[in-house]
Amino acid sequence: MTLRPFLLERFFARYEFQPALHLASSDCESLTIPELLAFASAEDLSAWGSMKLGYTETAGHPELRSLIANDYGGIDVITAVPEEAIYLTMRALLKPGDKIVATCPGYQSLYEIAVEIGCDVQRWSPKESSEGWHFDPSDLKLDGVKALVVNFPHNPTGAHPTAAEWAEVCELAERCGCWLISDEMYRGLETNSASLKAAASAYSKGVSIAGLSKAYGLAGLRCGWVATQDKELMAAIQRYKDYTTICASAPTERLSIIAMKSGELLRKRCRDIIAANLPVWEDFVARHTHVLAARGVMLLPSKVYEAWEDHFRVGLGRLNFGEALNRLEKYIKMKV
Ligand SMILES: Cc1ncc(COP(=O)(O)O)c(C=O)c1O
Repeated sequence: MTLRPFLLERFFARYEFQPALHLASSDCESLTIPELLAFASAEDLSAWGSMKLGYTETAGHPELRSLIANDYGGIDVITAVPEEAIYLTMRALLKPGDKIVATCPGYQSLYEIAVEIGCDVQRWSPKESSEGWHFDPSDLKLDGVKALVVNFPHNPTGAHPTAAEWAEVCELAERCGCWLISDEMYRGLETNSASLKAAASAYSKGVSIAGLSKAYGLAGLRCGWVATQDKELMAAIQRYKDYTTICASAPTERLSIIAMKSGELLRKRCRDIIAANLPVWEDFVARHTHVLAARGVMLLPSKVYEAWEDHFRVGLGRLNFGEALNRLEKYIKMKV
């Protein structure tokens, strides 16, 4: 079997770098290098300036790994590009015939790689209400399931379980002895609740996948990681990484160390952008409840998630969000 095209990534490849205002981006406004370096200590600036452009350690720079590990109570981590981290984890853990349950719709690699491996993939689907989207833990049936794959805060619906619901999910996985692969790329961007406990800290077979792309505004660094208490899984991921990137780029590691040392400030910067854009969006929706179509504005149709015909994704993380909405509004007014 061969991997099917990644619909969302193909859509972005076609439209992302056209001169459009983006209403669909999932990452927050990126920092420039000088903006990031403004957070650096004198020591880190000097390390950045004198860095050698050689190979780096396969598991990741020890200082970077230790900074990341702090967020997981000291659990060991391996660094990888975020999308690569998903790939390596799935390859290392899953075998043909394994049963998995995944939050769907979702970021395609979170279920597609399992399909390609030959797994039986079941969906855990959210329900929509006036409160937003909700994944109900009581819908989960995990007997005989090798891995539950989740992504909270959820791309594309924004669904986020309560702490009690998350504890229920972790307990259920533990009771069934099933792995909990948790994509936590948007963790830290929650604007009206606290972050959930990372899966890697919550459960011995929990696997947290995260990175700097979304919640830190540093997608171009291509820095991510996998954290888990399970040493065998770590070793297997390492073996697969020898066949993908082998190691990270040296500039990425140095800049990522600076970012991790100011992690909370960077996440707050992103949350502030989202908090400022949210009322602008709510006001817009209140004024336009009819079907939206756009020109010169990039919206993401739900068909790239293989779900629904009548939804689109809006990203709240960019500074020109208001400008993009104005352009969309002008177009709507022209048409109706
Ligand atoms: C849920 C989720 N996981 C992983 C990724 C991959 O992140 P990156 O593109 O930085 O590799 C994305 C990117 O959109 C995502 O939305």
